[in-house]
Amino acid sequence: MTPFSRRPDRTEGATWERTGHRYRAPLLIRQFPPEVPFGFLGRALPTTETIDLSLEAHRLAPDRALQVLQNARAVAEAELATGGEGTQASELEIERASAEELGREVARRTQELWKVGIRFVTRGSSRPRVEALRARLGERLSKFGFRTRIPRYEVEETLRTVDLSAATSRPLGYWQTLPTDALAALFPFGDETVLEPRGVLVGLALSDASPVFLDRWSHSSHSWGIFGTTGSGKTFATALTLLRTRWMHPDLQLTVLDPLGEFGAFVRALGGSVVPLADGQTGRLNPLDPVTTGGDRREKAARVGAMLRSLFPSLRDDELAVLDSAVTRLYEAGPDAPTFNDLQREVLSGRTGDPRLATLLEVFRTGSLQNLNGPTTLRLGEEPVSVDFRGVTDEQLPFHLTYVLDWAYGRLRSRAGPKLLVIDEAHLLARHAATEEVLERIVRHLRHFNAGMLVLTQNPDDFLERASGRSLLRNLYATAFLRLPEVSRATREFFGLTAAEAEWLPKARLPRDAGYSESLWRIGPFHLPLALVASTPEYEFLVGTLGQPGAGSH
Ligand SMILES: Nc1ncnc2c1ncn2[C@@H]1O[C@H](COP(=O)(O)OP(=O)(O)OP(=O)(O)O)[C@@H](O)[C@H]1O
Ligand SMILES: [Mg+2]
Repeated sequence: MTPFSRRPDRTEGATWERTGHRYRAPLLIRQFPPEVPFGFLGRALPTTETIDLSLEAHRLAPDRALQVLQNARAVAEAELATGGEGTQASELEIERASAEELGREVARRTQELWKVGIRFVTRGSSRPRVEALRARLGERLSKFGFRTRIPRYEVEETLRTVDLSAATSRPLGYWQTLPTDALAALFPFGDETVLEPRGVLVGLALSDASPVFLDRWSHSSHSWGIFGTTGSGKTFATALTLLRTRWMHPDLQLTVLDPLGEFGAFVRALGGSVVPLADGQTGRLNPLDPVTTGGDRREKAARVGAMLRSLFPSLRDDELAVLDSAVTRLYEAGPDAPTFNDLQREVLSGRTGDPRLATLLEVFRTGSLQNLNGPTTLRLGEEPVSVDFRGVTDEQLPFHLTYVLDWAYGRLRSRAGPKLLVIDEAHLLARHAATEEVLERIVRHLRHFNAGMLVLTQNPDDFLERASGRSLLRNLYATAFLRLPEVSRATREFFGLTAAEAEWLPKARLPRDAGYSESLWRIGPFHLPLALVASTPEYEFLVGTLGQPGAGSH
């Protein structure tokens, strides 16, 4: 310090501090809400106001954490025993239960406890200004369920600089004990900066329009799920992602399973071809050809079993057993590429030859599926390829989807380079346990071939009923929720959505109202509310092609 320097003139009021012409007014948190909404700080601290936030976090050793939780639980129990009443009793009960639950999580090391110091300080050039800013901040925080506290005659202790040992004495409300989840929710901007090099633009953060880029190829699973009610923009978001992925990876190979024929013109406009599955003129895909599993005949037998189960859901257990053993024999000893004639022969030749089963299989000889009976003759046109299932009856859709999925998988595994497989209306495969298992296994294996899947469906609940569906969902690296009419408890718990997120999803704005889709993305550990926005050329291309039938222009 030179002899001429002077400390700036500093004054401390009861609840504010002035240094020179600068005023500062601190605010502390007296009580946290039971649940901290995701990203709330981003919304509590608008970029238009000068507010400092300081946050320090010190981890408690596990033993100490368990002790703190045991004490909290004991205190709540003692107070409950002495007769807390009404709301107080229910708050105590929540405290007791959450201390117990957290205790288990800390013991399992899935959460930790942190001593967290939090302080907000509004800044400005006049006292009324900083006090008004602070009042508004307090109101915003109270909307999120926080109770705040203005430190009175404690301004200096509040504003003291952070020291690394956490030993500084601080006013009431500065220190909080929080579990890892709550601490993570306090990071205001951390979750809006997913910027993966070589990624594609997924969307813009709803809070501050910061862009989010994801590189699916850099994660262990390259597959994503997109869920949302009809009209929420799933098809559009998918096609947008495909365009952007092709720009980054011009060698991308793309296959679309398109039950409603929405991608036809899009795929043609990219120079690709459409397979109109039900038109009766397109060449045949033999569902029994084991080329799709790279010659793995056991895997092929399992898939054939699954597709037949979805086609004949009324089969009894004894009939299924006969069918399974016929399919097994077919792949153990049958021709290289069996046909349905061979399968029917196997069914009839079994020791317990089953006439009802043989009659059902007549559908492949003389009935509506007879063009599937024979070797593969389909000659594909240019990439990308979409398979249009329009014209297939509703009951037969899961069957057709399953063998086309099996075929698409075969294509993916036999080629080098990055590949994407889109499956729209994926719930059709969740109708039957067996086809859901096929889908699950395929999603799990795709990563080994540098391939990923985009699974589109209206309601995530479709996949929550069975273990195979849940495993499928766990194997999606990113899941996007567009507007959902309601968020079931099962969905909320499975995806770890907060109450605020679950309440928001039914209100997410629809593209027909907003001009873009609002969505919540679950990307690894992050939950990001994003706007899915297309540039003008992207928009024009997509609106001009999506939803247009692609057939008729071979
Ligand atoms: N991000 C977006 N920006 C602009 N327009 C969009 C966007 N997303 C969707 N749209 C428009 O909204 C409409 C509905 O979108 P889309 O068909 O993708 O919904 P969907 O979720 O696939 O519905 P469904 O379940 O009925 O297939 C379309 O007209 C589409 O052009
Ligand atoms: Mg759609």
